[in-house]
Order: sequence, then C-alpha cells, then structure tokens
Amino acid sequence: MQSLSDRVQIRGRSLWSRNAVKGTSLRGERLKRDGRKEWRQWNPRTSKLGAALLKATKPDFLPAPGSMCLYLGSGHGTTISHLHDHVCGTKNHLKGCVIAVDISSRCIRDLIRLCKTRPGIIPLLADCRSSEQIVPFVTKRVPWLFQDVSQSGQVEMFIDSCNQFLAPDGVGLLSLKSASERDTKGAFAHAEKRLLEAGFTLIEKIDLTGWEEQHVLFHVVF
Ligand SMILES: C[S@@+](CC[C@H](N)C(=O)[O-])C[C@H]1O[C@@H](n2cnc3c(N)ncnc32)[C@H](O)[C@@H]1O
Repeated sequence: MQSLSDRVQIRGRSLWSRNAVKGTSLRGERLKRDGRKEWRQWNPRTSKLGAALLKATKPDFLPAPGSMCLYLGSGHGTTISHLHDHVCGTKNHLKGCVIAVDISSRCIRDLIRLCKTRPGIIPLLADCRSSEQIVPFVTKRVPWLFQDVSQSGQVEMFIDSCNQFLAPDGVGLLSLKSASERDTKGAFAHAEKRLLEAGFTLIEKIDLTGWEEQHVLFHVVF
C-alpha cells in the first residue's frame, strides 16, 4: 500500500479516497471499511486525475488538505467528489474549498446536488475562457489549479487561467485531449512548447494511455 496522503491511497493497482460521506457511493464505486474509516474506490477510467496519480513517476501533486482549489471542467463531479474527500473531508472539517467550474448547466445541476452533502464544493456555471465570470468567486490566487475541458485551445485556456488565478509556486495540472485539437498529431508537442514559452516549469508529462487514450496530463509549477 502507498499512501499519497492520509486520505488517498494506492493499493496494488487501485486508488482509494477516504469517503467523506460514509455509506455513500456516487457512481457505484466500491466501498471498503477499515476500522472507523471508509475508503471509496477512485476509478481511473472516469477520472484523469485518478489515472494520473496511478501513472505518474512522482504522484505528489495533490493539493494540501484544507486548501483552495480551482477545477476547470468539472463535469458531473466524479473527480470533484474524490478531491473533496481529500481537501475537505466529512462536513468540511478540514476547511478546504473546491471551486468547480463548468459551462454546462446540466453538470452544474449535478454539482449543486453534490455540494449539499459535500460542503466545501462551490459549483460555478461559467466559461473558463472568460476569466471575468470567475474572478468574483476566486478572491485570492489559488495554490492548485486543474483543467480538463476537452475543447480546442486547451493549452491557451490553461495558460490564461494560471496567469490570472494560480499563486507563485502553485501546482498546475492540464489534462490535454489531443483529439479535441485541430492538429491532433502535434497537440502534445505544441502544448509542451507553449507551456515552456509561458515560463512554467514542467515537472512531468504523464501519458494516461491504458486508462484514457489520447490524453496527457501536464504537471507544471508556476
Ligand atoms: C471531460 S469532461 C470533465 C470530466 C471531469 N473532469 C471529471 O473528471 O469528472 C469536460 C467538461 O468540460 C466542460 N467544458 C468544456 N468547455 C468548457 C469551458 N470553456 N468552460 C468551462 N467548462 C467547459 C464540459 O461541459 C465538460 O463537462
């Protein structure tokens, strides 16, 4: 067993987060009792962050428990729920905050339902290409920013968001889907070049093949 934190563990080839809402499985994932703790399986096939934690050479890029995170492209909240397990915990006793941005009202509806049992998640209906829609809700620069939007122009969106919202030395994670870009073949090389030109330090380029095809997760520091 490898502990990535007190609240996230790798056991064999499976990933688990300590369930903040005991007895509740969000998408039918397995639950496991361990004394007074309950662990919830984190499926790497439905979470690029989960896949990256399993495939990284150095899976040390989770945010600190209790910190403020900005998550762009939150979808229906699958990954957000595990992030919440780690950053906020039961009834948000760790006092963390996950600002969950998505352009789809259907996704935000699901997130509003999720945040009722998981305080600390702030759902935000916004287009992450328009920082002015996000600015009023992000009162200070964040130490951790994640983007998973599967839309063309992913790298420029990420660079702009980091410039606007990420704190110095903050961790930035860009999940890039090559099939979403016009130049599919050159997408990863282009993204790496742009990140370096923009002044980021590239820590690791994590190929998610096996869990998510045509995806690379770039781990950078600002
Ligand atoms: C692949 S899904 C995200 C899945 C999610 N990260 C997870 O692991 O559960 C991509 C999401 O990005 C959202 N999206 C696409 N373009 C966006 C934009 N410009 N601003 C905000 N969200 C966007 C989509 O609505 C969709 O929900």
